[in-house]
Formats: sequence, C-alpha cells, structure tokens
Amino acid sequence: MTREEILSTFNIEASNPGAYAKEWLAPAESRELASLDPATGEVIATVLQADGATYERVAATAAEAFHTWRMVPAPKRGEVVHALGHALRAHKDALGRLVSLEMGKILAEGLGEVQEMIDMCDFAVGLSRQLYGLSMHSERARHRMYEQWHPLGPVGVISSFNFPVAVWSWNAALAAVCGNTVIWKPSSHTPLTALAVQHICNHVMARFEIDGVFNLVIGSGREVGQRLVDDPRVPLISFTGSTQQGRKVAASLAQRFGRSILELGGNNAIIVMPDANLDMAIRAVLFAAVGTAGQRCTSVRRLIVHEAVADRVVKSLLKVYRTVRIGDPLQRGTLMGPLVSEEAVADMMAALEQVRAQGGEILCGGKRLDRPGFFVEPTIVQAPKDLKIAEEETFAPVLYVYRVASLDEAIALQNSVKQGLSSALFTSNLFSAEAFLSPEGSDCGIANVNIGTSGAEIGGAFGGEKETGWGREAGSDSWKQYMRRQTCTVNWSSDLPLAQGVRFDLD
Ligand code: UN1
Repeated sequence: MTREEILSTFNIEASNPGAYAKEWLAPAESRELASLDPATGEVIATVLQADGATYERVAATAAEAFHTWRMVPAPKRGEVVHALGHALRAHKDALGRLVSLEMGKILAEGLGEVQEMIDMCDFAVGLSRQLYGLSMHSERARHRMYEQWHPLGPVGVISSFNFPVAVWSWNAALAAVCGNTVIWKPSSHTPLTALAVQHICNHVMARFEIDGVFNLVIGSGREVGQRLVDDPRVPLISFTGSTQQGRKVAASLAQRFGRSILELGGNNAIIVMPDANLDMAIRAVLFAAVGTAGQRCTSVRRLIVHEAVADRVVKSLLKVYRTVRIGDPLQRGTLMGPLVSEEAVADMMAALEQVRAQGGEILCGGKRLDRPGFFVEPTIVQAPKDLKIAEEETFAPVLYVYRVASLDEAIALQNSVKQGLSSALFTSNLFSAEAFLSPEGSDCGIANVNIGTSGAEIGGAFGGEKETGWGREAGSDSWKQYMRRQTCTVNWSSDLPLAQGVRFDLD
C-alpha cells in the first residue's frame, strides 16, 4: 500500500476539517495543525483545529445525542459496537499502516494496536448483555432491594500519541455500550489516525441511522482540552498523558466533582533473579524497552538484576541491542522506528546529559541518528542506586540497569519510585513469584511473572497506582466507571416499616 492509498482509504486530503459532530466542522478562523511523518520530519497532511465555538457544537451534539442513546437497550447498543469491530477488521491493514506512518511505531505494532481495538469491541459487545447489578435481601418484609447501572452522559476521551487509536477504543467501546456518547480529543501529534477512526465510526453510525454517539474534536490542550475538562455536561474524563498534565486535569475536575480516569506516567521495572530463564528475560526486556521506541507507558525503564547473573544479562543485552534494526517503521524487518517528535529527541538527550552529570554510565547507544526524522539509538545505562533522573519517566528507549543482592532489595527498589503502573519478575521459583504478587510485593497496577511490563491484553483492567493516577480502563469491571450506580428499594407491602427498626409513629 502506498502512502497515497493509505490516506485515500480514509478520505484524508492535504487539508482536513478537525472536528466531527453530525458533520465535519471547520472553525471560522482556521488554525492549521501539521501532522508530521516522524520518519522523515515532513508534513503528511494538515488539520484545521477546533476553536471554542467548534468545541461548543461538538459538546452540544454529544449532550443532545445522549438523551436518545441512553434509552436504546444495551444489547442494541452492542450491535453498533459489533459493527464497529467488523469495520475495524475490514480496515485493519490500512489503519495499522496509518498508525505506523503518523506515529512511527513499526507495522507489526501498528497492526497490533488495531487488533487491540477489535478485541475491545468484541469484549464490549459481550458486556452489552451483562452490565449486571446485584440484588440484596431487604431487612424489611415485602421489600425488594437491588442496584442498577445507568449511563453517565457524554464521556470525554483525551488520548496520547503513543497509542493513538487503541486507547480511544478502550474508552469509546465501553462508554458506548454503557449508553454514553463520546467526545474524543486526540493528541495533536496524531490527528490523522483520529480522522480515519472517525470516518469508520461515521459509516457505522450512518448504517444504524444514529448521530452524535462518536464525536471528534481536534485542537490544542489549552483551547479544546481545558474546555472539555471544565465542561459540566461531561461527567467523566478519561485522560492519558504525563503526570504533570494529569495533575492539572485532576485538580480541574475536582473543582466540579467531575469523575476521572487517569493513565499517567509509568516508571516500570523488570526484576531478573538468578533462577530465571534468562533467554526469555532478555527477549522480554528487549520488547519492553525497545518496542514502540520506548514510548509506551508500560515500557520498561529500569532493569533490576540479581548480581549473580547481572554480567551475563548485561552482556547478552548489549549483544542483542547491536542487532536492532532501526529505520522506516513500515519496512519489514525494522524493529525500532523513530521517536514521535523533535522535542522527544531533545528530552531524551537532556535526560542522558543528566545521566552523565549524576554518575550513570552509558553502556550503549545514547546518540541521535544522522538521518532525517527523529531517530535515536536504544540506550542502556549502568545506574547507581541514587540516579535521580531514573526516577522520572523519559519517553524514549533508555534502560537503566541496577544490580541487587536479593529479591527483597529488588522489590524495595522497584517500589521506591513515585509511579506505579507496570512491573515484572523473571523467576522459576514459586516462592519468589508469590512474594512478588503478595501485598508486600509489587505496588503497581500491573504485576507480571515471566512476562515483560508491556503488551497487556485487553481482558484485564488496565491502570496504575500512585502518580500514575487512578481508575482502570479496558477489561474486567472497568465498565462500572462509565456508569452511575443506583440503589433501589421497592416496597410492595401496605405498611411503611423503617430500616434499623426505627419507630416514628404519630401516636
Ligand atoms: C499505553 O502505553 O498508553 O500494555 C498503553 C500495553 C498496551 C497498552 C499501552 N496494551 O503495552
């Protein structure tokens, strides 16, 4: 597929309106946003960003559509999401390629991301016939007590560049079957993939003769993001981004008692014990550190190795790092594409400056590649225990290696950072594995044994602890966050008994 074919599949032209609510909307005074190909630094196409008035139209549409959508039976809503899943299957190749083109992850990962959307739709379709509430036994005679789950309202989804479409689907598929409409503000790095998904949604909505369930508004955080976060019509915001940004979003939402799901920074560690299958551990570390050029929130940033095997592990890693093919993400055989932007390259270089100043030793990599685009070398750093910069999340393929003498020391080091998203232990010892998974083990939202930190399936609830934020997306019972719980008691007696045996009689 040529680049032109990929773009024309989704009606993407040289310049595109950046908002959709029943129709494509372009702001009165257009401000162009250029989407760059990170592999060349060249403009792929531009989008006209939404202004305040455009946002208002989108939000009003989503709010109005909610009134109808919430009364559609959930299994019928599931049929729409089922059709969305099918449309995504039909467009998997083209959309996967567009993700690679615009974001820079390799094609296998671009396709994996679309598969994640498909899986999410399938999961949500099943849920559309579940969304169960509990029933309770009332202490009063002839009283029925139960809880039920109602739709919330328009749900705001503010997504990041690194999973430009999958994370939208985690939220949108659940929100839709739960009876909510969706307002999506994608990352300004990846507007084209959002346009493509909106086109797919539009076909599906047209088929079912519905409007306003899936809406899009592309614009800056200041102009559009903040309006969305402050909008009292939007009861829930799902935000993916940095801890710094998330802190502001959480504060704004708290002011108006808005709900939030926050997927913020991670600083994930893999612990390798001497009894681990080292081949497996090395492959897992490679995928978690170098995959997506280290730009997953689940990427491994810290490798904590038992000193008995540290030399062997580091030697093997250095060997495989040398064989990583860096280049065009759409080319078969490439293992690592570019970083997303010039700024991302600068951030990585600044972090490596800190590494040098703070006593870390760069064992391999560390440089920008001498070619167009935003390519860097995957980097391994031998880290002293107190390396300050390693406490921050740098969104780049930088792996800090630490040596420890025991599992306890490893777990303490792993948990010593402010973030708490994903964690992994490689061991063949049952006692070590269980200790890692116990309450005094990993403090993260995700804890894996003999699997790396990244690449979670959608069936589990995804999210973190501490400064990674709160809330869970995707599987398990994450759907509950997209609904409001109502406790109902129905008295079908001809008496009015009070709970707790309270008497409140007139005579
Ligand atoms: C993210 O990086 O924001 O577990 C999400 C994973 C993917 C999702 C990552 N399924 O790595």
